[in-house]
Amino acid sequence: MAFMDSHKKLEKNASLLLVFSFVVVTIGGIVEIAPLFYLDNTIEEVDGVRPYSPLELAGRDVYIREGCYVCHSQMVRPFRDEVERYGTYSLAAESMYDRPFQWGSKRTGPDLARVGGRYSNAWHVQHLIDPQSVVPESIMPKYGFLLDRDLEPEMIADNLKANQMLGVPYCDEMIELAAADMADQADPNADWEGVLTRYPKAVTGDFDGDPDRLTEMDALVAYLQMLGTLVDFTTYRADAEENLR
Ligand code: HEC
Repeated sequence: MAFMDSHKKLEKNASLLLVFSFVVVTIGGIVEIAPLFYLDNTIEEVDGVRPYSPLELAGRDVYIREGCYVCHSQMVRPFRDEVERYGTYSLAAESMYDRPFQWGSKRTGPDLARVGGRYSNAWHVQHLIDPQSVVPESIMPKYGFLLDRDLEPEMIADNLKANQMLGVPYCDEMIELAAADMADQADPNADWEGVLTRYPKAVTGDFDGDPDRLTEMDALVAYLQMLGTLVDFTTYRADAEENLR
């Protein structure tokens, strides 16, 4: 048993064992990691997923700034109990434009990946002002001050531009019109055609109950209302060719 003898030598010599282990782990690592450098994209693209509208992006920034992710996850896992409670499990493509992603690791409150469209704007505003007024046992903090904070239109174009640098497909037109689109989406008297062409399915209209003012509350509620609504699950099939473009 020549093979067993040489293996015995390896097992009895710590340095030799270390060198050979290193060689084996290196080969394994190269086989697993190297192909990833030759793939343009490891996420299957799915119809309907688009970059955030300027208003939604501003709302997402409020969400991150206020630490909502500390208590809320944004990923419905593919288990029966989760799917029955929250809706269809999350697809990787649904967070492909999230930088950083908001999957979260803690659920003090419910998952928010599919909260879009579940409640009215007025419910969200009331809930954010005083969570206990709608859910008496809630331990969620109050965020009514967002009603008093105006959105800063100066920053939004740069925000889109930074995302574009990171690979989010914002075109130059979107960046140029960012501030106008942000205001239009929350203006009940605006012509929404442009916003809806650039950002299909965007929820439009006043969000915070004060149509004359563009606040962080408008942005946050606009963001919450679109979460999980972009993919049409009545036509989406996980195995269909057209979803695997
Ligand atoms: C300290 C933990 C905590 C923080 C921070 C927090 N929440 Fe909550 N949230 C909860 C809890 C608990 C609930 C469930 C009770 C309720 O509805 O108020 C909840 C419920 C919700 C709901 C209703 C979800 C549903 O499906 O019924 C929304 C929407 C929500 N939170 C949004 C937010 C946003 C936006 C922020 C940040 C501005 C935030 N939360 C910050 C704990 C938190």
